[in-house]
Amino acid sequence: MGSDRSIPSLTADSLNPKVLKCEYAVRGEIVSLAQKLQQQLQANPGSYPFKEILYCNIGNPHSLGQQPITFFREVLALCDHPTILDKSKTQGLFSSDSIERARQILDQIPGRSTGAYSHSKGIKGLRDTIAAGIEARDGFPADPNDIFLTDGASPAIQMMMQLLIRSENDGIFCPVPQYPLYSASIALYGGTLVPYYLDEATGWGLEIRELEKQLETARQKGINVRALVVINPGNPTGQVLAEENQRDIVEFCKKEGLVLLADEVYQENIHVPEKQFHSFKKVCCSMGYGDKAIPLVSLQSVSKGYHGECGKRGGYMEVTGFSPEVMEQVYKLATLNACSNISGQILATLVMSPPKVGDESYESYLAEKDGILQSMARRAKMLEDGLNNLEGVTCNKAEGAMYLFPQIRLPNKAIKEAESRKKEPDAYYATRLLYATGIVVVPGSGFGQFPGTWHFRCTILPQEEKIPAIVSRLTEFHQKFMDEFRD
Ligand SMILES: Cc1ncc(COP(=O)(O)O)c(C=O)c1O
Repeated sequence: MGSDRSIPSLTADSLNPKVLKCEYAVRGEIVSLAQKLQQQLQANPGSYPFKEILYCNIGNPHSLGQQPITFFREVLALCDHPTILDKSKTQGLFSSDSIERARQILDQIPGRSTGAYSHSKGIKGLRDTIAAGIEARDGFPADPNDIFLTDGASPAIQMMMQLLIRSENDGIFCPVPQYPLYSASIALYGGTLVPYYLDEATGWGLEIRELEKQLETARQKGINVRALVVINPGNPTGQVLAEENQRDIVEFCKKEGLVLLADEVYQENIHVPEKQFHSFKKVCCSMGYGDKAIPLVSLQSVSKGYHGECGKRGGYMEVTGFSPEVMEQVYKLATLNACSNISGQILATLVMSPPKVGDESYESYLAEKDGILQSMARRAKMLEDGLNNLEGVTCNKAEGAMYLFPQIRLPNKAIKEAESRKKEPDAYYATRLLYATGIVVVPGSGFGQFPGTWHFRCTILPQEEKIPAIVSRLTEFHQKFMDEFRD
């Protein structure tokens, strides 16, 4: 038989080192451990001192029982199966405006089928509707040609990193703490993350002085900083920027020649009456910059807001202030993915153009939306209060988004114990919390944090009736943990 030539095997060492470097904490080690515990619990109920794993690690509302918005799903169902549009029973099962909307959308889809590829930016008629929605939100015009529909905001983030990063000398300014998709995609494309620290003492404030200081430091190291990422409302930190602060950020980007990457996926998630969301597009326009003077990318997603349709993978980026030559290259990148999925495109359109006063669905739509948002605000407050009652824990208000990011001041003995196990102290705390309570949170080290401080991120998404039990389990665990390691 043939010779004994050995076939070179595929090993981790032989892979792209940029892939190896990239880490994504919200689906990291602690989540794999939780999934293992869940299997053990299913095979052997009673093997842990809790009945279920409570996933507070990721902003995935439907996985924890949140119900979809009826109007959105009716339109999606009708678009996916248009033959029922002409059946008489459909009138009784679906609202008149969802039937009407599905007809309008189907008229805009080439071939009237959600099974067909579309234009790489997304279906033109849907982009027209989204542009009108942006215009209604901001009070300034939006151009459908500036809109790229994407499979959630994640591919848009990656596309921008791919576009901007040429080598490790190219830097992307990111908040710390940050949403780890930024650090992961910067690592993947071989750039350098240039951190700017949010100020925990002022409710995770974004200070221009800090931006200036870090920019100077990066430039001294020979880093060419190309873009500033701003997450508003913040993840994991939950702050909502004041309009004046946003104006200063825009001026800073203009002065320093930076692309402003405005991650605005939590724009509907505002929990406090004293804060309001303002898009950076609106802020730029209101400063008289029109939509050409600042290179701005604004991200929106169907995964967040009150709808929380993470699995549908819909979203868009509105790209303004790029030259026609650069836009052509962005478009080329979009064509490599053929197009984003059509259900996600439809959903992104519905999110930016929900039922209006007088539509049959309007009242029920509003009741569903308000019910979800008001409950989220109550859950955020209950968890915030519960966390602030814990020894050595301080938690800023979740003004927006879906998370709390408390600081935990751990006893030295606990930090030493973590070090002896080669774990970050907050990862050790989170692991012990999981084993004791079944609650899954993400250690702060996965998001970045000011050196020497420890945090964890906890979502506000478990159903409201579960929150009191979560708070009491957390309180009991925390007290025991502190007692065990008290110096
Ligand atoms: C700040 C931020 N940006 C973007 C995303 C990406 O979400 P998706 O790709 O589901 O739109 C997330 C998801 O949690 C996020 O928190």
